Amino acid sequence: MFQIYQEINKQLKEALNTAFAKEALAAKKTGDSLNPQLMPASKPEFGDFQVNGALTLAKKIKLPPRSIAEIIVKQLKMNDEFNKLCYPPTIAGPGFINLTIQNDCLSQELSRRLKDKNLGVPLAQSDDQTKQPKPIIVDFSSPNIAKEMHVGHLRSTIIGDSIARILSFRGYKVLRLNHVGDWGTQFGMLITYLKLIIPEALTTPNLIKIGDLVDFYRKAKKRFDDDEYFQRCSREEVVKLQQGNKESLKAWELLCQQSRQEFQKIYDRLDIELSERGESFYNPFLIDVVKDLKKLGLLVEDEGAECVFLEGMKGKEGKPLPLIIQKSDGGFNYATTDLAAIRYRLQCPPNGDGAGRIIYVTDSGQSNHFSSVFQVAKRAKWVPKECKIEHVPFGLVQGEDGKKLKTRSGETVRLKELLDEAIDRAKADIVRRLHEDNRQETQDFISYVSTTIGIGAVKYADLSQNRTTNYQFSFDRMLSLQGNTAPYLLYALVRIAGINRKGGHFDTSDKPLKFSEPGEWKLIRELLKFDEIILAVEEELLPNRLCSYLFELSQEFNRFYDQIPVLKAQEPERSSRLALCQLTRDILKKGLNLLGISTLERM
Ligand code: ARG
Repeated sequence: MFQIYQEINKQLKEALNTAFAKEALAAKKTGDSLNPQLMPASKPEFGDFQVNGALTLAKKIKLPPRSIAEIIVKQLKMNDEFNKLCYPPTIAGPGFINLTIQNDCLSQELSRRLKDKNLGVPLAQSDDQTKQPKPIIVDFSSPNIAKEMHVGHLRSTIIGDSIARILSFRGYKVLRLNHVGDWGTQFGMLITYLKLIIPEALTTPNLIKIGDLVDFYRKAKKRFDDDEYFQRCSREEVVKLQQGNKESLKAWELLCQQSRQEFQKIYDRLDIELSERGESFYNPFLIDVVKDLKKLGLLVEDEGAECVFLEGMKGKEGKPLPLIIQKSDGGFNYATTDLAAIRYRLQCPPNGDGAGRIIYVTDSGQSNHFSSVFQVAKRAKWVPKECKIEHVPFGLVQGEDGKKLKTRSGETVRLKELLDEAIDRAKADIVRRLHEDNRQETQDFISYVSTTIGIGAVKYADLSQNRTTNYQFSFDRMLSLQGNTAPYLLYALVRIAGINRKGGHFDTSDKPLKFSEPGEWKLIRELLKFDEIILAVEEELLPNRLCSYLFELSQEFNRFYDQIPVLKAQEPERSSRLALCQLTRDILKKGLNLLGISTLERM
């Protein structure tokens, strides 16, 4: 109801300015305005919106809040535009004004949305409304080469993908960047180790499996820590790689390729689109980061390393913390790459992406890293005023025991196995249901439905939690047909598909819609919230708000459908109710699509 809200707000402001012209003028002089404080009603019995402004205005205007509320209401009632939007306002308590939207206004908005392919969600515009808004970068997933993609990367992948989908739906150009860890000292160790163990792997593609690669990495690391000679060789290997030695580059490229193929399997299963632009991409820009920070006088040498001392961040003994930009051996850090990346992403093409907003989706363990990097970028004036850079942190994935997620035998969980298990369990569930209902279905159907439910359930369980908290992984909970789960939402859609199959189609040839039941109006109000939810997620980057909304919408729909006849109703009620079914279907489908979840006609 974003548009209706805006319209009412406009009328309210006019009412205030007319009724309290003197005070409005005085406020304007100080760059202020009289604020009606219009917000959604705190309880449904108060109507749709409430105006809280009378209470604050009372201090400015020196009248009791109730009298102010009365003056505002009188003013509103004289306004035809307002009277088309709302029923006569009522005053409650010390001076709250309660507003209820006219039924006609609700049905008009409903008709508009039934015809709008964006379901009432406005398209983003740039500030001056003439140009396309600047692109948004979502930096997500970003696993590390030669290491296993873990559940933290899975969370980043699922959350980042959903945020990217929502922003695209709003009309932004979105760059989905996979900032893979494809550079650094680990390659020196790995190449040195492989030279000793299986040198062919450094020249022949696909000779080692990713699982082995991860294992080699672990062993190489151990050797590096224990063996001084090995350490020296590894360091030399890194230098060779950095200097662009052909053989080393070839080996590096092979190792990356190997990991990449493995990552891609997970992305394919999860239907994730990503452009890889790993850390190595920014290598040519690292030296300029150092040079420019030096020019700006931000760099300080500390024990041979080049650092920026951070403001407001203190370490032990209250000393300011340094962010190391260049190590004493001349090497660069994770942070240096991120600084180069910020510059590149914000600079205008052809020297960069020209982004207006950068969103980083990683676990909250990296919060300090990002606040340090952001601080340095801002102090260096690399972040234009109108651009936003944001870290979108999320909590840990825990097992049902509240501890770190592990397999039964205590090993770290492989993503492939986790997805397989979700699908297998969904399948067992379907097979059981089919048996109980004596239904016959093909193997293809069973496998399609179980894959959709299994993957959907994993994604939804993750997204429906407030991402900032730790999240308890439970197959039983996420696959349940009851509660705030993917299967529950998918089932609501299946119900609507059933109505459609029984011949219940809303025909768009526009007979006027007619509603009379309270259950219809409740569903309509819920349907009309879609736009404000999308706008809120764009702002706060909390996909769980979209999940809660879709869950509430499904519940409201189920109540409506259980209580009010649709197919058996007479015209014009039948068509009007089918219209509600259609918009519910379209919003649920779109909403789930924005969460990266496919939907089903039958299940
Ligand atoms: N590769 C990192 C990790 O696995 C995540 C990178 C996130 N993005 C960034 N620009 N730092 O933890």
